[in-house]
Amino acid sequence: MLNEICVVGLGYIGLPTLITLALNGFKVFGVDKNKKVVKMLDQGLIHIKEPNLEKHFGDLIYKNKISIRNNLSTADVFMICVPTPIDNDGKCDLSHVIKSVKEVCQYLKKGDLIIVESTVPPTTTENIIKPIIEEKGFKVGKDVFLSHCPERVLPGNIMHEIIFNSRIIGGCTDNCNRKTASIYNKFVKGEIILTDSKTAEMAKLYENTFRDINIAIANELIKICNKLGIDGLKVIEYANKHPRVDILKPGPGVGGHCLAVDPYFIIEKCKSESKLIATARKINNSMPYFIVDKVKKLLSQIKKPKISVFGLTYKENIDDIRESPALKIVKILEKIGYQVQVYDPLIRYYEDSVIDSIVEDSDLILILTAHNQFREIDYKRLASKMRTPMILDTRNALNIEDEDIKYYNLGNIN
Ligand SMILES: NC(=O)c1ccc[n+]([C@@H]2O[C@H](COP(=O)([O-])OP(=O)(O)OC[C@H]3O[C@@H](n4cnc5c(N)ncnc54)[C@H](O)[C@@H]3O)[C@@H](O)[C@H]2O)c1
Repeated sequence: MLNEICVVGLGYIGLPTLITLALNGFKVFGVDKNKKVVKMLDQGLIHIKEPNLEKHFGDLIYKNKISIRNNLSTADVFMICVPTPIDNDGKCDLSHVIKSVKEVCQYLKKGDLIIVESTVPPTTTENIIKPIIEEKGFKVGKDVFLSHCPERVLPGNIMHEIIFNSRIIGGCTDNCNRKTASIYNKFVKGEIILTDSKTAEMAKLYENTFRDINIAIANELIKICNKLGIDGLKVIEYANKHPRVDILKPGPGVGGHCLAVDPYFIIEKCKSESKLIATARKINNSMPYFIVDKVKKLLSQIKKPKISVFGLTYKENIDDIRESPALKIVKILEKIGYQVQVYDPLIRYYEDSVIDSIVEDSDLILILTAHNQFREIDYKRLASKMRTPMILDTRNALNIEDEDIKYYNLGNIN
């Protein structure tokens, strides 16, 4: 019987998973190697911002339905939700996954199930994780069970999507699939698809790669239109009137732990076959430099320009700055010598910053993330505090028509 579940790694994926399992009646405990995270969680406080998370978590901790630990112990199911960043060579850093699987192996007993939710390069489950387990004397599919079940939630809507999205289960054997499905069947309301591990791994990677390539198409279009003096945003709007065309939104680049990372996991396995993927990555990686060039042009006539950056996270309405193109842009601007001040009410570090003092005497508001709050700001009032009332909206989040404000977006910034 699979009675007790241990979630390993309590970040953006592991913590909501732990909470969802507990809410659905599973006996659970969570393990994280980060002592600060464990201490905070143990007090009923959460270290990430995600709607509905804190309310549920506090309640579950209070009712002793969840426990948080620094170290592993025995369980019946181990769900691995540890990070898989890219290393300096542009390859997947599997060290956290390998370490946690080895740690799990110390407590493994016959009948246990290991589910890897972390995103991994194709064939990792079969060729890297399974041998680690079998080295310990367990036959996968007979003694213990192993599956990859990738996560595809949208940050900002995780608690909903974790239940209503469809899930792909890639088991090493049919038995592994059956055991794994018996867990997800209890809380997933979307479709549950059973396949092998390498197909599940690749499906996850290609979802994000598809989006990355499509964003690259929009970004490239902006660059082309820019050179030709055409409003690229209008081109996208009009082209999307075609019933089978859906060009995505251009922007200052692509960030986050998925879109900006996962395509490399395919490239590392099949470099010569992944030319389109690599090109898309290059285009999206070039966008911060494109934006910096535009900023330089806008500010070229101003002495000691001061820039107010609005939004540092990699996408709107979340607190995650991993791989954020906004961070890169700020770093480049600072390196050039601009005075840059950041306003991002969603990031704990900047929580206390006051918008009026950020824009005071500023020459440019540079919008890099389209948080909802930014749409509600009275820009006319803010403009009156600026030295040069100028806005560059790289997310096309606003629509300002005011003769006192010079408003630019990616369509009209030729
Ligand atoms: N964040 C997303 O939106 C998202 C979506 C889909 C898939 N994923 C994938 O899910 C995985 C986890 O991503 P995340 O965003 O939750 O990462 P995260 O960095 O937010 O959290 C991972 C946690 O694992 C902990 N950890 C690392 N090694 C450990 C170990 N050996 N034992 C115990 N804890 C350990 C870290 O301290 C951290 O708290 C990654 O592979 C990621 O690609 C993430």
